[in-house]
Amino acid sequence: MVNSTGKIEFIDDMGSFKISKAEDTSYLYFPIAGEKGLKSSITPNLGGDSMIDQETFLLEPVSVENLHNNKNTRNFWLYMDNGDVWSVAGTSAEQESNKYTSLQDDSLVTAGFMWHKALRANYKSKILAEVTSFVPVDCNVEVMSVTIKNISSKAKTIVPIAAIPIYGRSADNLRDHRNVTSMLHQITTLKEGVIVKPTMSFDEKGHRLNEKIYYVLGFDNNENIPESFFPTVDSFIGEGGSFLKPRSVYRQEPGCGAGIKICGKEAVGGLKFEKITLPKNAEATYTVLIGVAENMDELNAVIDRFNSIKGMEEEFDLVRDYWKNKVNVDFYTGDKAFDEFMRWVSFQPFLRRVYGCSFLPYHDYGRGGRGWRDLWQDCLSLLFMEPDDVRKMIVANFGGVRIDGTNATIIGEGLGNFIADRNGIARVWMDHAYWPFKTLDLYIKQSGDYQILEECVPYFKDAIVHRGNLVDKEFENIDNKQYISDKRKTTVYKGTILEHLLVQNLCAFYEVGEHNTLRLRGADWNDALDMASENGESVAFSYAYAGNLRELAKMIEEYAKIYDVKSITLFKELKKLLDHISVDTLNKPIGVSTKKNILKKYSEMVEGNLSGHFFDIEVHELVSKLSIMAEQFTKLLRDQEWITGDSGQGWFNSYYDNSKNRAEYYDEDDTKTRMMLTGQVFAIMGGVATDEQIGKIVSSADRYLYKEKIGGYRLNTDFKEIKNDLGRMFGFAYGEKENGAVFSHMSVMYAKALYERGFAKEGFKSLNSLYNASMDFSTSHIYPGIPEYFDITGRGKYPYLTGAASWYLLTMITEVFGIKGEAGNMLISPALLKKQFDKEGIARISLNFAGKHFNITYENKTFKESGEYKIIEARLNENELAIKDSKLIIYRKVIDELDADNNIFVALG
Ligand code: G1P
Repeated sequence: MVNSTGKIEFIDDMGSFKISKAEDTSYLYFPIAGEKGLKSSITPNLGGDSMIDQETFLLEPVSVENLHNNKNTRNFWLYMDNGDVWSVAGTSAEQESNKYTSLQDDSLVTAGFMWHKALRANYKSKILAEVTSFVPVDCNVEVMSVTIKNISSKAKTIVPIAAIPIYGRSADNLRDHRNVTSMLHQITTLKEGVIVKPTMSFDEKGHRLNEKIYYVLGFDNNENIPESFFPTVDSFIGEGGSFLKPRSVYRQEPGCGAGIKICGKEAVGGLKFEKITLPKNAEATYTVLIGVAENMDELNAVIDRFNSIKGMEEEFDLVRDYWKNKVNVDFYTGDKAFDEFMRWVSFQPFLRRVYGCSFLPYHDYGRGGRGWRDLWQDCLSLLFMEPDDVRKMIVANFGGVRIDGTNATIIGEGLGNFIADRNGIARVWMDHAYWPFKTLDLYIKQSGDYQILEECVPYFKDAIVHRGNLVDKEFENIDNKQYISDKRKTTVYKGTILEHLLVQNLCAFYEVGEHNTLRLRGADWNDALDMASENGESVAFSYAYAGNLRELAKMIEEYAKIYDVKSITLFKELKKLLDHISVDTLNKPIGVSTKKNILKKYSEMVEGNLSGHFFDIEVHELVSKLSIMAEQFTKLLRDQEWITGDSGQGWFNSYYDNSKNRAEYYDEDDTKTRMMLTGQVFAIMGGVATDEQIGKIVSSADRYLYKEKIGGYRLNTDFKEIKNDLGRMFGFAYGEKENGAVFSHMSVMYAKALYERGFAKEGFKSLNSLYNASMDFSTSHIYPGIPEYFDITGRGKYPYLTGAASWYLLTMITEVFGIKGEAGNMLISPALLKKQFDKEGIARISLNFAGKHFNITYENKTFKESGEYKIIEARLNENELAIKDSKLIIYRKVIDELDADNNIFVALG
């Protein structure tokens, strides 16, 4: 059954893989979920958890350490006629083999998008089991299908017992009243299994009557129901027993019948099936359904739908097809493993849409929902894969912006459902206003839909005013909307998306610290830079906002040109943020106190309802003001923040700490030099770094931050100091998370920034190191995909849910394969390196663009390098394409006329 231990092998072209003895790797888990709300994690030994939301955990919540500690996993026990007991989850197995005998079970995990198979064989008992787990797309049930096979030469008599502990309550109750909440449990045995309907749910919103039904049901392959039940922990493990050696199994207790009700106990879905005799090589299959239902009708519908084995195969295929079809981007390079890796990377954004940032074992924080930043970045990849819904999402998300440029930080279920902050703390992440523009910019480039700028949406309003600096105690507002009053009435104010963008980026520009760069406030992208709110400055995001202002000017100019817009109407108060900008300020940056004053005045003006007055500004004037702001800021940053070293090093400072000192510097004793990656990324991306400076940044990053074996570019050098005047990150061990780990998201953005500026080889280096580290299972210890970060040993941490995946996919499409949107047209300009082509010089991508599907083939017969080759010939479905400056443009009106499926051929030479 088993090949070499611990090696991932892909088994098809859809990312599915297998790995033997996966259980020998700690911390491994795999996601399986549907679209209805139920989401699970599953380990090689069937551990992990399952939940709908924070209040509705079906299985006991687990954090990574529980994965090897908890023994109350999903399980399925076999009691054999010779008295042997075997668990299909590996619970009964010896953990070690010595060199003479192989006592350890043989095991193999096979998995693909949202399905997981755990195969296990015991050669002493000569029995094999395969457990297939998946969640149907439209139903809150985790299906566990268990097939047992007799691999001995004789018939075997077996008693099968499924045992799934049912937690059935809020994750909070793990520590907060675990015991008291078990007293709320009302457990009933139905003829198909065990249900738990707690009388109440205890949570922060108070004690509410509960309607939810948690259940474990089972059938054999002839649709027979279980023979008896162990519905409680007491009855299943027995007095003095444990989930490792449940007495009911080992002592073959009889169990109780259907129709029994037990109250106030910890519950188990313990289902004892009829004893069976399996002839040699014969097999039997059992279905175990683990789920949550709103009422008995829903539960009965689940029974009707899932009780037949035949139907189950169809259900399994439906799940596989559904998720496979979701990933509609496909890469072909010379490296098959890379192409399969990209499938997982492309799938990861769906996982984050489903799981948010809270519901997998490493992600043991938060209470569900996604943060503001993650929400916008996830849209980036969905623009390629689920473009139809993205416009709606973008429009609704702008409704979370406050009139002072800050925003609600947590996004609840459904569109436009914003929560200021879970704990009522007015915290401002100064990078938040940066992301919406980035996402909208990509959206407009892809779609040409400049009209989205004219959509009118409300602003978010709550008691938090003055950019999080004041709480208006008098404030009462039931709908969290910004109001406007004129002489006659007070109504909800709706402004254009263009206006929202201006509010966000202009306010950001004025919120400066002592060095005239932007204040760090609660933190920026790096959540762990959270201890410098008074004096800290994020120079990193100053570069970023400078870039935004420049690009925003460009976007407005293009929009006005296409729609012949001469002037733009904005609410009157916003004028305050524009008035001071004139050509005079181009070479003389506005001073700190003037900026602060302007922002203060503006904040006062928009504290309550808007005045109801408006002003018009000519497009050319607005564009020119934004450009001036961008240029003066760029100049200031370029002159002031560049750091140099003795041997020609050069890079940009990223932060000022709360003591008003620079976070980064060159030290003559070079081991003390401090460098961070974030500032470099945004200085390059935001157009602050010149090409010459980029060259220096790259060699400095290579010198101070790069470590190939652990994924490439680390976030920072070791400061060897618990810098409590900058952030908690310095309390983390060096090499963990935000303190100097190879943090995939920032490393990918570094690559993207480099590609954008024409540094393909340098960008590739970062992408490639991340890929190599992810896929080297012997060090990364993760299933395929990109983790949030790599620790100092190269172990992949926090797999699956990371913004790095969206950015990786985006970079591969728009930069490496060079398929960009430009005002809705398709622009083709590849930057593939020669080693990315196969032996015949071919590389391919297929993707959707403007509602049509394209297979795009590049041929590099002479194996020239990126930067050396040019496009020498190109065809769209056999029609010659015109080449301009080694680029191709396929106009939207041409695309609109195309059939659904298209081929583009591009010869490079
Ligand atoms: C995670 C968070 C993200 C934050 C980052 C750094 O990143 O989700 O909001 O900016 O940590 O603190 P991710 O790996 O999801 O990109």
